[in-house]
Amino acid sequence: MKKVINLGLIGLGTVGEGVIKLLKKNSSIIERKAGTGIRIRKVCDLDPRKRKVLKKYNLKPEVFTVKAGEVLNDKDIDIVIELIGGYEPAGKYILEAVRKGKHVVTANKALLARRWPEIFSEAARHNALVYIEGSAGGGIPVIQSLNEGLSANRIKSVLGILNGTTNYILTKMSKENISFKKALKKAQEKGFAEADAKYDINGIDAANKLVILGSIIFGAHIKPSEVYCEGIGKIMREDIGYAYNEFGYVLKLLAILKSGGGAIEVRVHPTLVPRGHLLSSVDDEYNAVYVEGDAVGKTMYYGRGAGMMPTASAVVSDIIYLSKNIHNNIAGRAPYILCDPKRKLKVLDINDIRTRYYIRITSVDKPGVLSRISGALGKHNVSIASVYQMAYVKQKRDVPIIMVTHLAREGDIKKALSEIDRLSMVKKKSILIRIEDLDE
Ligand code: HSE
Repeated sequence: MKKVINLGLIGLGTVGEGVIKLLKKNSSIIERKAGTGIRIRKVCDLDPRKRKVLKKYNLKPEVFTVKAGEVLNDKDIDIVIELIGGYEPAGKYILEAVRKGKHVVTANKALLARRWPEIFSEAARHNALVYIEGSAGGGIPVIQSLNEGLSANRIKSVLGILNGTTNYILTKMSKENISFKKALKKAQEKGFAEADAKYDINGIDAANKLVILGSIIFGAHIKPSEVYCEGIGKIMREDIGYAYNEFGYVLKLLAILKSGGGAIEVRVHPTLVPRGHLLSSVDDEYNAVYVEGDAVGKTMYYGRGAGMMPTASAVVSDIIYLSKNIHNNIAGRAPYILCDPKRKLKVLDINDIRTRYYIRITSVDKPGVLSRISGALGKHNVSIASVYQMAYVKQKRDVPIIMVTHLAREGDIKKALSEIDRLSMVKKKSILIRIEDLDE
């Protein structure tokens, strides 16, 4: 039985520092729960100036190194905590660690999403464990919940707000009338955004997290390329306003997974949810994951999805689980995450999904416009549920015509809109936003 579990941390950024801080701050609770002592044996960062961070936490300067090899080749290190992010050298370090029989904790969502089967099968081959709680949902223990707490269920759907930065931006744009640019700057200052915020804005970060949740749910890898992904870069404040004021919808960047009918849906895109939906009140950098299972029914997990201490909370919980198992000589006897490389999932093409839509058409205001538009929609089997038209009585200006449809096939509504956009009275490319309603 190991009396003290030795940690090697690679990557002393915001979350890395949070992990050291939390391990120090709550050491008595943490060690009691683990049933063993836990010690930070090495901390590695490429930037030698980071050595001074250790002083704040009473760690000796010789604990610091700029060479990852000093962590990976240290026989006494039991757990490697990879927090550098990015594909390489992070991938190489994780594989090297598990090949040496070390257990790994990582929050590297992009790497996990891309190399899921390789990482988990290599870990299993070497009786090593890779724990990943910080990789999706920040401080919310959603990985444990899906992997263990809900494992008896067939999961029907997951609706997730999985990116704190975009949720922060959308909240500021809709509730405080702050511009996209200013809101993004604030999110960056607060440390929520990725090193390159384009991965937040274009939905890729949320898509990677959806890959992780979906791969856990199905015990098989969903490839990032199979997730339909659309970010918030083109969202206009006027649509947030019309959708809320005229139809009672709140705009969120949702990561959606649905299963049933022999194929799964995996998609990330701006989505309108009704004001009464629990997800509509998830604001700022908060994340939420709304999961429906066949036995449990509807459940929701809510909390801070980004930032130093919430993510450290998830990473340290992994350290505790692993330390307890290492101490009791049972770590790695059974794999943590099931990944069957032979199991293939059929993913529904985005054009075949059926949902409701908000559409905004910009047109001249003259007789016959609405009938031409509704004619095109009808021709392609799209039924209109409600219509709103803004009227400029005094000035002759182009007007927005906004419609909410009943359930329609995406391929059909796209065909109808492309026909509508070719009409001479239509002045701009139409806007289409998907809706997720309470009872669907
Ligand atoms: N950039 C990410 C976000 C950080 O905003 O959610 C947490 O994964």
